[in-house]
Amino acid sequence: MLITLLFASLATGINAYIWPSPQLDALESLRFEQAFADFVQPCDLFSFDSQGANSRSGRSNAADWIRTAYHDMATHNVADGTGGMDASIRFDEEQARPENAGDGFQNTLLAILAQSNRYVSIADVLALGAVFAFDNWQVLGGPEIPFRGGRVDATEPNAPGVPEPQEDLNSHIASFARQGFTQAEMIGLVACGHTFGGVQHAPFPNIVPELNDPNNTQSVAHFDSTSVQFDNKVATEYISGTTQNPLIVGLNETTNSDKRIFASDGNATMRSFAQSPKLFSSTCAELMARMIDTVPKGVQLTEVITPLSVKPSGLDLVLAGNGLQFSGQVRFWNMTDDPARTVRLLWDDHSGGINNVTLRFSHVTSSSGGRNTAAWYTFNPADDVSFLSLDPEAGITTMRFAVGDKLEDQGGVGFATQDDVLFSTSSCFDADGNGGRWDIAVRNGVAPTRVYLEAQTRDNISRPIVLETDVPPPVPQGPTNATAPYAIWSVEVKGNFESFKTYNVGAEVGGVKATRIGQHSLSDFSPCA
Ligand code: HEM
Ligand SMILES: *[C@@H]1O[C@H](CO)[C@@H](O)[C@H](O)[C@H]1NC(C)=O
Ligand SMILES: *[C@@H]1O[C@H](CO)[C@@H](O)[C@H](O)[C@H]1NC(C)=O
Ligand SMILES: *[C@@H]1O[C@H](CO)[C@@H](O)[C@H](O)[C@H]1NC(C)=O
Ligand SMILES: *[C@@H]1O[C@H](CO)[C@@H](O)[C@H](O)[C@H]1NC(C)=O
Ligand SMILES: *[C@@H]1O[C@H](CO)[C@@H](O)[C@H](O)[C@H]1NC(C)=O
Ligand SMILES: *[C@@H]1O[C@H](CO)[C@@H](O)[C@H](O)[C@H]1NC(C)=O
Ligand SMILES: *[C@@H]1O[C@H](CO)[C@@H](O)[C@H](O)[C@H]1NC(C)=O
Repeated sequence: MLITLLFASLATGINAYIWPSPQLDALESLRFEQAFADFVQPCDLFSFDSQGANSRSGRSNAADWIRTAYHDMATHNVADGTGGMDASIRFDEEQARPENAGDGFQNTLLAILAQSNRYVSIADVLALGAVFAFDNWQVLGGPEIPFRGGRVDATEPNAPGVPEPQEDLNSHIASFARQGFTQAEMIGLVACGHTFGGVQHAPFPNIVPELNDPNNTQSVAHFDSTSVQFDNKVATEYISGTTQNPLIVGLNETTNSDKRIFASDGNATMRSFAQSPKLFSSTCAELMARMIDTVPKGVQLTEVITPLSVKPSGLDLVLAGNGLQFSGQVRFWNMTDDPARTVRLLWDDHSGGINNVTLRFSHVTSSSGGRNTAAWYTFNPADDVSFLSLDPEAGITTMRFAVGDKLEDQGGVGFATQDDVLFSTSSCFDADGNGGRWDIAVRNGVAPTRVYLEAQTRDNISRPIVLETDVPPPVPQGPTNATAPYAIWSVEVKGNFESFKTYNVGAEVGGVKATRIGQHSLSDFSPCA
């Protein structure tokens, strides 16, 4: 029932949040715009194969991502709330433990780290990686795992606690109980994880010999015959006695942990999975969701991230001399190209005007292994004009979109669009590339207590952080021009490659701190005079 409801809300986009919401917007984009998922598309893609990205290594990114997420979570202790999905697996000290043998963690983190940002923690991306590894199989009946954000990255390694194959059944039952899972759930989780990948020779030479197979150069003994795809073969092959799973038919009984675990309830759970691919799929969706939502005590996760049906994206708004330049795109979920369709952007301004312009079709994207499509429309009025010109006096307060006759306005509230603090194209860079001047336009009548530049960087344990640089108000020189729509606040910056660093602009107005539209580096503008 729970699963059915989640599917229904994903399909219709009900319960979605109101745009803009920086954290949810960022989580939604990462979840529903395919770019990051392309690392597990096709499903046998392995990015670290010396022969190129193909399946000749026997490895796959998808399998590494699922195992990494599990090993990060498996440190959880339900009794004291420590450990869980918090990206503590990124610490060398944790990876060096025998329970974390293999290079899959390093490989995974190379892809994961780059996707984390000020709104999406490393642990969130780690969780999402596991979601994608399953998600790309939806078209073939694979599970859609509900995804939440809000995980908090650990500042140090967690206590050890990942189960290892040579441990006995009672230790495994106790270990999963400590992580928060019953014996039946243990069987389910292991089966769901072990439908992907296998055991490699290098880290487990006593379990898997060298295979000397040119199509499996890293000698991976796979858990089932379809190791890069989600299906219930891990169960059917086990029940029928044809399995080659190295943790079941391994020569050394001590390390046959899947054999002990799968048989631990008289095969009841595995038999049910073998009989029903549907049950296996829905069980995996539920257990994987619980796995990635197992977080240290006190961490508050967001609601389940559902796709926004209409989403403005990549907006930019700058003051350019006597005009405002507005650019961006809007994404319509579950929409394909239709040349007969007219899409308009309507916007309200400060003088009570309602303006509109017809948007141009840009492109269609797909996600979830081709299950979803989205159509994108650009604000560019023509190929050689990348922005809409707005009257700076009138400005912009709210956007709405008209698709044919249908008004898309988030149930009446519109798409709030701030024009109070923005980049000015009078900003300039020094000829040596190591500095320049930021000019920030502050709308007449707005009285920010602070205006600042935001630079995203990382702290010494890889966590995304934001550094702020204050932009001082102008020192009045003679009478101010009260009729000008914007005043310019400026700050000079110096530093290596400073002209090429990307900044956002933020302001505190009425006690509320928020990032404004657009992202620039000084090199976007002109050389300083
Ligand atoms: C008693 C519990 C478990 C034991 C003893 C165990 C043991 C192992 C071992 C020894 C490997 C080989 C790793 C390598 O060669 O790199 C492996 C791989 C894997 N495990 Fe587990 N595992 C357990 C539970 C789980 C769970 C709960 C999941 C996920 C839900 C999972 C997901 C995976 C995946 C996806 C791989 C393949 C990795 C790859 O091919 O790169 N395992 N497991
Ligand atoms: C997608 O759009 C089509 C056509 O507009 C509609 O019939 C269908 O119900 C929509 N599907 C979802 C999942 O929203
Ligand atoms: C390796 O895979 C190729 C392509 O699938 C196949 O033609 C070839 O026979 C395989 N080689 C071995 C040794 O299995
Ligand atoms: C079987 O595996 C265990 C645990 O790794 C090891 O201690 C033992 O020596 C192995 N037995 C044989 C016969 O290789
Ligand atoms: C469980 O299934 C396996 C594989 O078919 C079989 O070898 C084993 O005897 C079964 N165990 C029980 C307790 O039924
Ligand atoms: C768009 O603006 C034009 C004038 O530029 C106006 O005639 C038209 O009614 C407007 N359309 C909508 C949907 O508001
Ligand atoms: C990281 O920086 C913090 C201060 O922000 C410092 O206390 C800590 O020792 C540093 N850690 C490392 C590994 O450099
Ligand atoms: C004051 O600003 C207005 C509007 O930008 C401009 O037209 C006018 O020339 C400015 N006056 C002076 C004295 O700079």
